[in-house]
Amino acid sequence: MAAGRPSPGGVGVTTVSAMIDRDRLGLLRKGEEERFLADHPTSARLAREAGSALLAGVPMPWMTRWPGAFPVVVDRAWGARLVDVDGHEYVDLCLGDTGAMTGHALPQVAEAVARQARTGITTMLPSQDAAWVAAELARRFGLPRWQMAMSATDANRFVLRFARHLTGRPRIAVMDWCYHGTVDETLAVLDGDRVVPRPGAMGPPVDVELTTAVVPFNDVEALERRLAQGDVACLLMEPALTNIGIVLPEEGYLDAVRDLTRRHGVLLVVDETHTLCAGPGGCTAAWGLEPDLVVVGKTIGGGVPVAAYGMSAAVAERLEGPMLGAEIDVAGVGGTLTGNALAMAAARATLANALREEDFAVAVPLAQRFAAGVAEVIGRHGLPWHVQRLGCRAEYWFCPPPRDGAAAAAATDEELEGFLHLWALNRGVLLTPFHNMALLSPHHTVVDVDRHTEVFAAALEELVG
Ligand SMILES: Cc1ncc(COP(=O)(O)O)c(C=O)c1O
Repeated sequence: MAAGRPSPGGVGVTTVSAMIDRDRLGLLRKGEEERFLADHPTSARLAREAGSALLAGVPMPWMTRWPGAFPVVVDRAWGARLVDVDGHEYVDLCLGDTGAMTGHALPQVAEAVARQARTGITTMLPSQDAAWVAAELARRFGLPRWQMAMSATDANRFVLRFARHLTGRPRIAVMDWCYHGTVDETLAVLDGDRVVPRPGAMGPPVDVELTTAVVPFNDVEALERRLAQGDVACLLMEPALTNIGIVLPEEGYLDAVRDLTRRHGVLLVVDETHTLCAGPGGCTAAWGLEPDLVVVGKTIGGGVPVAAYGMSAAVAERLEGPMLGAEIDVAGVGGTLTGNALAMAAARATLANALREEDFAVAVPLAQRFAAGVAEVIGRHGLPWHVQRLGCRAEYWFCPPPRDGAAAAAATDEELEGFLHLWALNRGVLLTPFHNMALLSPHHTVVDVDRHTEVFAAALEELVG
């Protein structure tokens, strides 16, 4: 996640609108909607039936975001492939919105999960795999102590509590247009100088202005001004924004962030849930970052729900005592199924067999090829769009490279995005339903990448050719 829904008529939309014939776009989209309906009769029937018991016909609200009248129902997925119940095979560039960045159904994970399922899934006691997983994460990220969570959202919640506990400060700071899961404090954006709920956030429990400081990405002065107020416990950030398109840090920005957070006694939490695409230890290892805490989730269980958070020796030393307290079970950290044996077995099998240097050595060149192909097509049509890449993640966007989240958000164009996604889906290529993100894994091939480039080129030829 997440695209968010910026206000219609934002700066970027105007730019794009100037070059896109909206009537033509509407007509093409209509044709694609009809083709989708004709091609997916079984998914259509199942969607109708599901609607009677499932709210909005889906088990999780984001699934309504897929292009087409209903989401296709999955029959099976393996490697970089997915087959729906109507028998269509897709090159999967979504990979479960990073949940399956390893590729689907890794045999080693399937075996470990089956074995563990036969010998006890959850006992609320540690299994041997937990310490192995923690040691492997410590080796990859360079932070010595770890604990587990069920999701990256969970891990972020826990870390925010620790930060407030350790600093005695009430607020957390995030980047404008960030996404860190369904964490109440983080669903906030800037409206001028004011902190307001992110558009679309449902039922905020308290005014985010009371809980959260928001700063624009790549703006050192704004960060310095905000941290100087002395009320911020931690800065939670992705080292590169990935949830509003990819926005890369400018030269020296992350060094300045580290310097400022240290100077103002603010804990630096790096959320590597998506930026793990940069390599086996995420951007933390790839760029030599020195966070106080790291959060990683989604793909580290090969698709099985599990997440983890790591911390420096200094933070660990201060948390060790509270962990042993008599009331730790009601501290607001942890959960009954957290660290369960099944999740730990899945994480061990995943980290032992995937997301390694040798896996990125295959996936990253594929992402480079993806980006080059898309850039060539954009250039051919003289569009003011760009394609950005971070490791094995690549993304195209309807504006020149933005410096911060707000600039990226202003260029969102749901109509255009929806058309491009549906066009691709109808031709066997699945993109992440939020913005225009593609993940490449070691299971993709050059042929898969070129298929996307062809499909993208054909869409633009129809639209602006
Ligand atoms: C950077 C980042 N952190 C945390 C999360 C939350 O992950 P989950 O939904 O698995 O809890 C997301 C989800 O997209 C994310 O992109």
